[in-house]
Amino acid sequence: MAHMNEQTDTEKQGGETWAAAQAESRALEAALQNPEQRRHYRMLTGDRPTGRLHIGHYFGSLRNRVALQQLGLETFIVIADYQVLTDREQGEHIAGFTRELCLDYLAAGLDPENYPVHIFVHSQVPELNQLFVPFLSLVSQRELERNPTTKDELQHSALEQLTAALLTYPVHQAADILFCHGNVVPVGKDQLPHIELTRSIARRFNQRYGCTYFPRPVGLLSDTPAIMGLDGSAKMSKSRGNSIELAASADEVARNIRRARTDSERLLSYEPERRPEVANLLQLAALCSDCPPGQLARQLGTGGAGALKRLLTERLNAHLEPIRQRRRELEQHMDYIDEVLARGCTIARERAAQTMKEVHQLLGTYAVS
Ligand code: TRP
Repeated sequence: MAHMNEQTDTEKQGGETWAAAQAESRALEAALQNPEQRRHYRMLTGDRPTGRLHIGHYFGSLRNRVALQQLGLETFIVIADYQVLTDREQGEHIAGFTRELCLDYLAAGLDPENYPVHIFVHSQVPELNQLFVPFLSLVSQRELERNPTTKDELQHSALEQLTAALLTYPVHQAADILFCHGNVVPVGKDQLPHIELTRSIARRFNQRYGCTYFPRPVGLLSDTPAIMGLDGSAKMSKSRGNSIELAASADEVARNIRRARTDSERLLSYEPERRPEVANLLQLAALCSDCPPGQLARQLGTGGAGALKRLLTERLNAHLEPIRQRRRELEQHMDYIDEVLARGCTIARERAAQTMKEVHQLLGTYAVS
């Protein structure tokens, strides 16, 4: 893997290729299945608290996190509340969304009682943000300005101009990942530029201070194809009103699926290119069954969209029912949610304080005695 170290420099390479990222993700997945190798890994991932999670989040990432938890991998999950401030003028309901997000995590099966899973909140771990400062000295303005994800976010934001917060949040994210020496980062494709930057920062830090202190994080890509919106648009998203929330009732699920866009061909077939809407529903039904989408299509035969929607409603509701039930129970105990977050923040703070102590030694800064 030595050659990889040289290749990941964003400045030299102008972006790692998608194929290389996928290959590395697959190799990592294999390593994680091996108990001997697994000991060398720690997972860090996170989300912004901007609303309830939907089934796209669930099938795309939450489910994988639960599977990794089951392997016993130590896991940090950051609720990135500071990041909410990067692309809008003010964060609304941040505290409420933070608790909702934690509720969704636990309902989906993340279990801090029985596994080393720490859920924490960005703004509550000041030590973590201290790491951001030395990291800023390791990246160039040009490099940040070129980041395709940040550019895209600027375009879709309500901001009139690029703020320093939006420009530099990928460096902040590098601190999220590296403060706990995270090296497994389950993310979607859009986050890969940030992982690459994190790798550059870790490598440059180690080079500059003559150490091997920070690890080389790898993005773990979900093998689930992106879930499209029910209206046929490329992305399922709450703000576009084309999603199904993880917390949706059985009736809401049925209603949303009934309204989903399809086509008028009676004979069902799984053809993602030609029939993307039908393929998306088949894919969702497949994710809830142990049956590939093409086979489901053949079973449904000439039943048309109606039969497909009935099947999907039934399967999805069966799949979501245990999650809904856990959510209902947890909702009665919101103080437990606060307790989970408090514990997570305490552990994150301890870990970050330790890292800062070591980082200060490496930097050679003055320490008050
Ligand atoms: N940037 C991520 C998003 O927008 C959220 C996030 C913050 C994150 N810190 C992280 C993801 C660290 C992975 C690792 O969804």
